[in-house]
Amino acid sequence: MTGGTLIVGASQAGLQLAASLRQFGDTEPITLVGEEIHPPYQRPPLSKEFLSGKTDLESLTLRAPSYYADAGIALVSGERVTEVALSSAGRQGSGVAGAASGRTFAFDRLALTVGAAPRRLDVPGADLDGICCLRDRDDAAYLRERLVPGARVVVVGGGFIGLEAAAVARALGMEVTVVEAADRLISRAVAPVVSEFYRRAHLRRGTRVLLSTGVSGFEGAEGRVRAVRLTDGTALLADIVLVGVGVLPRTELAEQLGLACDRGIIVDAQARTSDPHVHAAGDCTVQPHPVPGLGAVRLESVQNAVAQATAAAASLLGRPVGARPVPWFWSYQGDLKLQIAGLSAGHDEYVVRGEPDSERFSVLYYRRGELLAIDAVNSPADYMAVRKALTVGAVLPASAAADSGTLLKTLLAARPDAVSSS
Ligand code: NAI
Repeated sequence: MTGGTLIVGASQAGLQLAASLRQFGDTEPITLVGEEIHPPYQRPPLSKEFLSGKTDLESLTLRAPSYYADAGIALVSGERVTEVALSSAGRQGSGVAGAASGRTFAFDRLALTVGAAPRRLDVPGADLDGICCLRDRDDAAYLRERLVPGARVVVVGGGFIGLEAAAVARALGMEVTVVEAADRLISRAVAPVVSEFYRRAHLRRGTRVLLSTGVSGFEGAEGRVRAVRLTDGTALLADIVLVGVGVLPRTELAEQLGLACDRGIIVDAQARTSDPHVHAAGDCTVQPHPVPGLGAVRLESVQNAVAQATAAAASLLGRPVGARPVPWFWSYQGDLKLQIAGLSAGHDEYVVRGEPDSERFSVLYYRRGELLAIDAVNSPADYMAVRKALTVGAVLPASAAADSGTLLKTLLAARPDAVSSS
């Protein structure tokens, strides 16, 4: 390849960036390089429908093979880019990247959509067979093969991956224990009331949940894991261990380029890095919080990957970047469907609608009286109403929202300070 756009990382954000460039009329060459041997595929079903056997890997493909040729996108799979440098002369933003295989890619424009890697536990025995993480197709296939009747499953980490997989394993009849280091589940994303709901809901389904519990090591026999040693000294027998303790954004290439990084590649609302000629999108990035004054956030979601990649494509072509959409996210843990709209970080008040133990409720988050976000469990109407309110900037008073007998959509009102267009 000579020139054109090089997109490093061929998952949701990378593919979206390539597709958006074409949609916006870019006719220059586009090369999309990914280290996995599989063409881009959907990740969210890996810990849900795929793990439970409801779907196969082939149906997760994001685009038909013919798409790439038709769109003029050179998809290069199975190549890990390890080096990248910008030219000191010539067009700004141009340069060359090198893969582990020795292959090189010259580019006029560069975008990094390299994602994040599962964090590993640095404890004795962590390399034993039967201990896995769940991030890509191969991880998911490994885990699914081992979720066999009678297997004792230990899940380390009570976040989204751990709880989705635990729900599947338990529904398949396995003995499941979740070991969480923090004093509540999913603490990164939800309020304590939602964490407690999930603890009780998983217990009701027969999953053991250990909070404030760490792992000091893994014990095995003949190279295979047999037990998880906890920090309190007890041992949990295990045939398979899933480690879901968060992710680390991949910043190595950005660091080689001298781009600013702080727990991710720092980008602005146009997905420009600290070198405005280089763009980045998806799980590898840190971006300004949508609420001014609340700092920076790393959003680990499909919705963000798509939105940011679309912004990056527009920005690369010098087109105006549209308004940032309201962030949204979902996590299906068996029959418990959590939908999140907005970002609750920074809230100073929340309102619970409905009774958590009925397994149908929602939590609305506010800051200085302003609606920030919702976590809705099996409550799609509440979720839709809040997503709409956040999108159009409508007011949804906390005092009225607490009455679960009133439909939220009937409470939406225009902001008093909104300028009427009529
Ligand atoms: P996470 O950040 O959601 O949860 C990690 C959990 O592990 C936290 O509760 C944390 O306190 C705990 N933990 C950390 N160190 C530990 C230790 N040493 N021992 C025990 N617990 C420990 O990350 P997770 O679940 O690994 O998910 C990875 C990524 O996948 C995230 O980006 C997540 O958003 C994404 N994901 C998205 C889904 C979706 O779209 N529905 C579903 C599942 C995952």
